[in-house]
Amino acid sequence: MSAPQWTLADAGWGRKAVDAATVHEPQNVREYVAMHQHLGVGRGTRVLDVACGAGLAVELGTARGATLAGIDASPRLIAVARDRSPVADLRVGDMRELPWADAAFDVVTSFRGIWGTTPEVLDEVRRVLRSGGRFGMTVWGHVKASPGAWALRPFQWAPQPQVAHQAAMNNLGKPGVGEHLLARHGFEAIRRVSIPCVWEFADPESFARALAATGPGYEAIEAVGEEQFLADAAQLAQEYQREGLPLRAEINLVGFIASAPGNIGRPFLDEPAELSQQARTTYEDDHAELGYVMNTTRLWAHDAEALDSLFRTLGHVTKTAGLSVRDRGILVTATASTLADSYCALAWGGKLAAATSPGLASGVLSGDDSLLDDRERALARWARAVTADANATVAADVQPLRDAGYREAQILAITAYIALRIAFSTVNDALGSVPDWQLRASTPKDVLDAVTFGRPPAPAPAPAPAPAPAPAGA
Ligand SMILES: C[S@@+](CC[C@H](N)C(=O)[O-])C[C@H]1O[C@@H](n2cnc3c(N)ncnc32)[C@H](O)[C@@H]1O
Repeated sequence: MSAPQWTLADAGWGRKAVDAATVHEPQNVREYVAMHQHLGVGRGTRVLDVACGAGLAVELGTARGATLAGIDASPRLIAVARDRSPVADLRVGDMRELPWADAAFDVVTSFRGIWGTTPEVLDEVRRVLRSGGRFGMTVWGHVKASPGAWALRPFQWAPQPQVAHQAAMNNLGKPGVGEHLLARHGFEAIRRVSIPCVWEFADPESFARALAATGPGYEAIEAVGEEQFLADAAQLAQEYQREGLPLRAEINLVGFIASAPGNIGRPFLDEPAELSQQARTTYEDDHAELGYVMNTTRLWAHDAEALDSLFRTLGHVTKTAGLSVRDRGILVTATASTLADSYCALAWGGKLAAATSPGLASGVLSGDDSLLDDRERALARWARAVTADANATVAADVQPLRDAGYREAQILAITAYIALRIAFSTVNDALGSVPDWQLRASTPKDVLDAVTFGRPPAPAPAPAPAPAPAPAGA
């Protein structure tokens, strides 16, 4: 009996496992970090990496505090992955039959591991994700138009049928193709996210060595011979050498994030059967201001008095600190994006965009403060520092706020404002409150594009069916 097809991957990918792990795989580190950030991988997240190769993404996920598992067809790459991450659950196997129970993971990733030719893997990914769990995958984008397109050229030295097969594998990045496939396999809240991909090499020889350690490189080597491949690839790279700088190839990569169906849009607590007077007031206020009742208001209806005190305290510290709407927009967007809270990021991203510009709001949400003045930059930085790790701040971190003209009492009030927003976001996120579909519909595109994290917004309700035609003669 011949070996199953999937075991053949080891011949190309595992042939030079040490080079693959040390010269090729580190090129993808920006990609791994960006995707983990988009998916909110952190302490306690149960993550599976599909087609995990030599396991650098597994190691980086573990370093974020997550519990990692990985699968790859190549036993030689899995041996490296186990060496790197002894505690991770790493298995040799076929990604079309994932050897884990249903709903075993909060997050599944795959970095250039799932292709147009392997769509059935998506059913397996959906099966092992818990309801509402998140999936992130990368695929090649518009490679030919990339500044670093030259770096993939040696793969085309393979025989024509293999090159054609590579092209068929790489079609998911084309507009709409990946989205359509994910939707067909039952995923929801599908979004494209920007993922950096930059390969950097010390010299043309390391470039040639890195490519020779890949599966497509092996296909080319089989056609032209290893010596020729290494010589031609090094010669190609010589053209792109720069004095005093590494060889650099920036390649267009597409990231998709999507959610497994389940509780999307449904909060974890039922709305109270009866509303208190205070809760009724908050519903009426929402109606008057927005035309709908926000999901957060429905959640806090269980204790609308607590919400009222929280917002009264927020109002108090706002006054003490002298914060304008624009200042609060900066503080909340910086806080919410650091926490990966999509709800407050969208709500206040829209308000900040209206008070300034969509570019400024999306900038702060993405950590780019270049459109802020010095005082505002001090606010944004302080919000991120307090939110990311309040134990890691030092006295010098407060100085930019003083330099910006804030007095001690105001600095306390600004810090209390950030901490109260963290409390509000934490309750909403922990209890599954998702951004309202109406909020998504009214948010500027730049802001929507910048909110690539957190719980996806609730889907808009399906349009009401058209009325049945009246019977003839009625
Ligand atoms: C493009 S590489 C990506 C590896 C890794 N994710 C990375 O970022 O470097 C594709 C990987 O898919 C693995 N592979 C190919 N077919 C497979 C299958 N049927 N099941 C599991 N892994 C497979 C290969 O061994 C290889 O490690």
